[in-house]
Amino acid sequence: MHIPTRLALLAACAASLALPAAAQPAGPIKVGLMLPATGTFAALGDMIEKGFKLHVQEQGGKLAGREIQYFRVDDESDPSKATDNVNKLIKRDQVDVLVGTVHSGVALAMAKAAKESNTLLIVPNAGADAITGPMCGPNIVRSSFSNWQPGYSTGVVAAQKGYKRAMTITWNYAAGLETVKGFTEAFEKGGGKVIKDLSLPFPGVEFQALLTEIAAQKPDVVFAFFAGGGAVKFVKDYDAAGLKKSVPLFGSGFLTDGTLEAQGAAAQGLQTTLHYADSLDIPKNNAFRKSFALTYKQNADVYAVQGYDAAQLLAAGLNAVKGDMGKRDAMLGAMRKATVDSPRGKFTLSAGGNPVQDMYLREAKGPNNEYRSVAVKALADPARGCKL
Ligand code: BEZ
Repeated sequence: MHIPTRLALLAACAASLALPAAAQPAGPIKVGLMLPATGTFAALGDMIEKGFKLHVQEQGGKLAGREIQYFRVDDESDPSKATDNVNKLIKRDQVDVLVGTVHSGVALAMAKAAKESNTLLIVPNAGADAITGPMCGPNIVRSSFSNWQPGYSTGVVAAQKGYKRAMTITWNYAAGLETVKGFTEAFEKGGGKVIKDLSLPFPGVEFQALLTEIAAQKPDVVFAFFAGGGAVKFVKDYDAAGLKKSVPLFGSGFLTDGTLEAQGAAAQGLQTTLHYADSLDIPKNNAFRKSFALTYKQNADVYAVQGYDAAQLLAAGLNAVKGDMGKRDAMLGAMRKATVDSPRGKFTLSAGGNPVQDMYLREAKGPNNEYRSVAVKALADPARGCKL
């Protein structure tokens, strides 16, 4: 054999020994979707999954060149089953990344299991403040919000409108209580006073006694946190009780997101704040809504956006390491430093791993939560208790 040819052959053999095939990222990335498929939050879980899969589909079905394999568990929005459910994904299916969930109580159990097993967790909805507060960790990020954020921004708006006496009403669990806390903080800072907090157990919908109490107290404004099926019933009952005409109803945007069709006339005109508005007129939102409607023959909502952005966050990490999840620190670092080009507008993550984002005032009009104004610009969760 000619000498240069033999040298080239030897060099090629040495190179292949230095980089064995096994060192290359291979096989699919296993994504564990833990979302509600039944119960009052079922529609929310469905939209998150659709949003996540839409982004993957737009990348040709792969992220950073790796196929995505899905594993699913219906968490039923039931905290008592959460640890068993998440372990089906971590231990049985051995997923590379967990995506979930909607309900704050279930997500708290997921975060605990993710910390203990060091599994990457992307939270596409549940706002439990502790997840990006005292429980924060390098392997946990959120593509949604903390409960404090929409509560706080609604409190800012209610105070600006000059209301002085407020009542609050919600489900008695982390999301409801923390959202009300955020509302109260901003509303009282702005000169108002919360005169009474009302609550009922999750996912109860027996609102009559509480509505009677609101009618008796006659506050200037009511702040409500409900979502999904419960929000549909609450908004209809509030109207049917005659309260919509006499006591303005405010809420975090979950009160009217993904629910307007079912709420009908009862929801029209309701003002809420949230990190998304259907009619937000920016190129990314317009393209996203078009793509979502074409793919699924239905309109997107905030839950679809959060699912889409969970996939965008994962993609940011995977792209930085060319799909090699073995380069874990580099991947997690890239996710935390990413600027996500979201349909809600661009956002970054705080030190605790929670979106720093604009909060919008919206008004329910026809089938949409229409953009009215920016309620609070670049609102960052205080991440109380997060040490990283
Ligand atoms: C929660 O439990 O964190 C939650 C559920 C539905 C909408 C928003 C928050």
